[in-house]
Amino acid sequence: MRWTLWLALFATCLVHVYAAEEGVLQTHVDLTPFLNNKAAALEGTIASFDGHNGSYPAEYLPIGTLVDASITYKLPNFSDMSTLDNVNCSGQVIPVPVGRYHSFGWLGATDGFSSLNANFTAIYEDNSTETLGYVVAPWWTSNPSLGPITAPFFNWGLSNGTTYQNHNISRMFTFQHRLDNSKNLSGIQLANVTGSARFTGTLSIHVFAMTLVSSNSSESSGEPLLAVQDVRSTTKFRTQNDTQVQLIEVTLNNFAPNDAPISSWITSKQTIALHSASGTIHTVIPGEVNRLRGGDQVRVIVGIVTEEGIEAGTKLDDVQVVVNGSPLGEQLGIVAGIPDYFVGDESLKTHESPEWFDGAKFGLFVHWGIYSVPAWTVSGTQYAEWYWYWQHNPANASSAVWLHHKEVYGEDFLYDDFFPNFTASVFDVNAFVQFVADIGAKYYVITTKHHDGFALFDTGNSSNRNSLNYGPKRDLIGEILNATKATQPQLYSGLYFSLPEWFNPAYAKYGHADFSDGLYHPRSDDPSNPGYNILQRTGFAGGLAQNAYNSSAPLEPYTGYIEVDDYLEDIMKPQMETLFYKYETDILWCDVGGPTIAPEILPAWYNWAKANGRQVALNARCGTNYSDFDNPEYSVTSSLKTRKWESSEGSDPYSYGYNQNTSYENYRNTSYLVHSLVDIVSKNGNYLLDIGPTANGTIVPPSRDSLLGVGRWLNASGDAIYDTQYWFVTAEEGNLRFTTKQDAFYIISFLYPEDGVVRSTSPLPLKTGDKATFLGVNGISQELDWQWTADGVFELSVGEIEDELRMVGDAWAFKFVYHSG
Ligand SMILES: *[C@@H]1O[C@H](CO)[C@@H](O)[C@H](O)[C@H]1NC(C)=O
Ligand SMILES: *[C@@H]1O[C@H](CO)[C@@H](O)[C@H](O)[C@H]1NC(C)=O
Ligand SMILES: *[C@@H]1O[C@H](CO)[C@@H](O)[C@H](O)[C@H]1NC(C)=O
Ligand SMILES: *[C@@H]1O[C@H](CO)[C@@H](O)[C@H](O)[C@H]1NC(C)=O
Ligand SMILES: *[C@@H]1O[C@H](CO)[C@@H](O)[C@H](O)[C@H]1NC(C)=O
Ligand SMILES: *[C@@H]1O[C@H](CO)[C@@H](O)[C@H](O)[C@H]1NC(C)=O
Ligand SMILES: *[C@@H]1O[C@H](CO)[C@@H](O)[C@H](O)[C@H]1NC(C)=O
Ligand SMILES: *[C@@H]1O[C@H](CO)[C@@H](O)[C@H](O)[C@H]1NC(C)=O
Ligand SMILES: *[C@@H]1O[C@H](CO)[C@@H](O)[C@H](O)[C@H]1NC(C)=O
Ligand SMILES: *[C@@H]1O[C@H](CO)[C@@H](O)[C@H](O)[C@H]1NC(C)=O
Ligand SMILES: *[C@@H]1O[C@H](CO)[C@@H](O)[C@H](O)[C@H]1NC(C)=O
Ligand SMILES: *[C@@H]1O[C@H](CO)[C@@H](O)[C@H](O)[C@H]1NC(C)=O
Repeated sequence: MRWTLWLALFATCLVHVYAAEEGVLQTHVDLTPFLNNKAAALEGTIASFDGHNGSYPAEYLPIGTLVDASITYKLPNFSDMSTLDNVNCSGQVIPVPVGRYHSFGWLGATDGFSSLNANFTAIYEDNSTETLGYVVAPWWTSNPSLGPITAPFFNWGLSNGTTYQNHNISRMFTFQHRLDNSKNLSGIQLANVTGSARFTGTLSIHVFAMTLVSSNSSESSGEPLLAVQDVRSTTKFRTQNDTQVQLIEVTLNNFAPNDAPISSWITSKQTIALHSASGTIHTVIPGEVNRLRGGDQVRVIVGIVTEEGIEAGTKLDDVQVVVNGSPLGEQLGIVAGIPDYFVGDESLKTHESPEWFDGAKFGLFVHWGIYSVPAWTVSGTQYAEWYWYWQHNPANASSAVWLHHKEVYGEDFLYDDFFPNFTASVFDVNAFVQFVADIGAKYYVITTKHHDGFALFDTGNSSNRNSLNYGPKRDLIGEILNATKATQPQLYSGLYFSLPEWFNPAYAKYGHADFSDGLYHPRSDDPSNPGYNILQRTGFAGGLAQNAYNSSAPLEPYTGYIEVDDYLEDIMKPQMETLFYKYETDILWCDVGGPTIAPEILPAWYNWAKANGRQVALNARCGTNYSDFDNPEYSVTSSLKTRKWESSEGSDPYSYGYNQNTSYENYRNTSYLVHSLVDIVSKNGNYLLDIGPTANGTIVPPSRDSLLGVGRWLNASGDAIYDTQYWFVTAEEGNLRFTTKQDAFYIISFLYPEDGVVRSTSPLPLKTGDKATFLGVNGISQELDWQWTADGVFELSVGEIEDELRMVGDAWAFKFVYHSG
């Protein structure tokens, strides 16, 4: 597909429509000289994509071209076993037809089980370079991201040269990055980074196709060159007048060079509507673009309703983007209306993170349970909520937790003996909910059941192992949700739920343990068992725990266990459904993944929520093939990622649950947390920041204080965070981070502007008349002076408001309201 129509907007708003051939160019980069790997194999043949005889199944990969977000990728012939089909990246410099390009798209994946942060480098003709940062997702994982190419399985290689089908989906992903279109590009240097991967050892990045997107006119006409990049139907909606308005995401480029004069920027309000020639849709929430500099791109939300009689889910091929009343680009396809969900990936993959989740940016994560009683491991090395596991793995003096337990509680003291001391005795539910609001979080996610199987909610007749029967004897989750509704109804509630339980007897069938005679036997190391590695390494064996100090002692009890036939049907299903319908969670936040009932019960939950005008979210660890967002954990995402993501970590430097072994001065301070939040938001993520309350329900002072500090910062600066979008051009420049809204641009500085000036050399979309202010504790400051210097440096003068700046610590947020005209 190509863009066949162009629209150029004169400053006077006269509209000129150009013919297709003068418009958009998609340049396919020839990778042939650099091919060095074979990714896909036909059945009965072997390829070694991952260096271990593992491969994509060629039969299931597309042939010829792939169109994703209107960018066309020329695919290698994956079925041709006589030629290589991809480049394993190790810093190769790929020459490109010299020219000015607006963006660079490529198709790729890592060849291991994990994501990798990677830098490509754009090389311009003047020998200047630019780093193009990416987060590249793995070709397969049990907690998948989303890519436009999927195959239902992959071939797992064995050392004897045979393979078997592993039925985790394998994928390829697309990436798009802005280029500096004021300069001629001459080459792209591929990443030169490797990581370490579970299962296969090393991890590297592979490229299957590269496409450069540009305007084909080399000289600037002095007018905006607006073009539609993409029109994407979503299953997100807003409710207006009792009607659900479907949200369609329109992506627009301004292909004018980023150094072209301001006459080539969009500087006044452009109203974006969608029109269908067959008259079947109506735009009821027009999109709006107030500013778009040359070289930039923006995502705009347009709300539509379908005409009566049009069934939700109807495919329309004649949808036209209309800008200020004039058509732009060619007719495109959308799915109009949001159909009911049904069982099957075809339907589940269409569900997306709701708008409220995208805009929320900051959530509080809470890990609280029986592990909050011993609350111990070697600080900074292991998660304290894994206490029971570390006590058993390994069950000898090389495990610090095994030793600690023996010394502090004695060999005869079992994990379930901690139950009575999980008291929640000073837990004030209203104060907790107030705390969530005070730290500026828009949602929380709380453990309803961690891997130890102890639930903080009413598990009905699926299990008695819960806080209603033991410990506090309270329905903690019910109290928290009720208090939220009563006192802070604007907050969203997420419920964390561990899919497996380490030592649940009923999990043995799904886990890695031999329980065939009713007794626990660790299975022998059998690499031919496909389930062996993942389960052994993550430790979800199932089956009662063996006594950690005396192997001939009786197995440990699993207090509250009710005999069931099947873990998925009789425990996971009723418990998840309780979280959906009794507790009305807004997010099902699963952990671990693996064997799951979720795909069978999610459609009913999604439909029920939609029928009630609610939009719920699903994280990426529910054992499903699709999810609403990615969930990195205690890891840095160093680049913009356009698929929604949420990063979690504790205020403890390396634990979600409370760890008595972490000294107060080692907790993360407000400055660290604010910087993490801002950095993540600038790259399209949410920050899910964790606390581990103590067994009586208090939050340790350093954790409490630093989070309240984030709340104070957000109280002043939240306008630069909540409901913002990333800036396509760059998320960061040194100590600056950028965010955008429809009517404003934000710069957040991590450094105090010592000399009274904030400087940037990025092509900011700012022009004379835009009103600059500081978001301070007393509200918005007086208007600030700013200028572009003769050599193109942006300078914002903040010397006059030093007193206001001094009242804010950690980061300083400046707002620029676009002036129209
Ligand atoms: C890919 O390249 C890296 C870096 O040169 C190398 O370590 C790795 O073994 C290669 N992988 C494959 C599958 O060839
Ligand atoms: C791809 O390669 C296979 C095997 O060589 C061949 O049969 C097929 O025609 C090729 N497909 C295309 C589209 O070239
Ligand atoms: C890639 O990295 C390796 C290891 O750091 C280094 O030896 C090699 O020179 C690099 N290659 C390029 C092209 O930069
Ligand atoms: C990518 O480049 C940035 C600087 O531009 C650097 O901070 C970062 O460490 C690099 N990442 C990798 C994975 O090399
Ligand atoms: C860029 O570098 C190449 C190779 O070093 C050199 O031949 C060329 O003259 C340089 N170009 C510019 C514009 O400096
Ligand atoms: C891949 O298979 C070949 C036999 O075809 C075998 O010699 C080799 O060891 C295997 N490689 C790995 C890494 O298992
Ligand atoms: C809701 O009502 C307002 C005012 O009558 C109207 O402008 C708007 O288009 C309606 N929205 C929908 C979704 O029908
Ligand atoms: C449980 O609490 C009681 C009463 O405070 C205390 O004496 C006991 O040491 C605690 N036990 C554990 C295992 O923490
Ligand atoms: C929460 O509120 C509901 C509805 O009022 C009530 O039935 C339930 O008992 C409450 N739960 C708790 C734990 O208080
Ligand atoms: C290769 O190894 C697997 C797993 O050990 C075994 O099941 C299979 O029979 C072997 N195949 C051959 C050809 O040796
Ligand atoms: C996904 O891969 C893991 C690890 O090999 C395996 O245990 C699991 O069974 C696979 N899932 C499916 C659906 O094949
Ligand atoms: C709650 O528990 C913490 C940690 O064990 C302890 O320091 C604190 O004194 C307890 N608070 C009350 C009121 O018992």
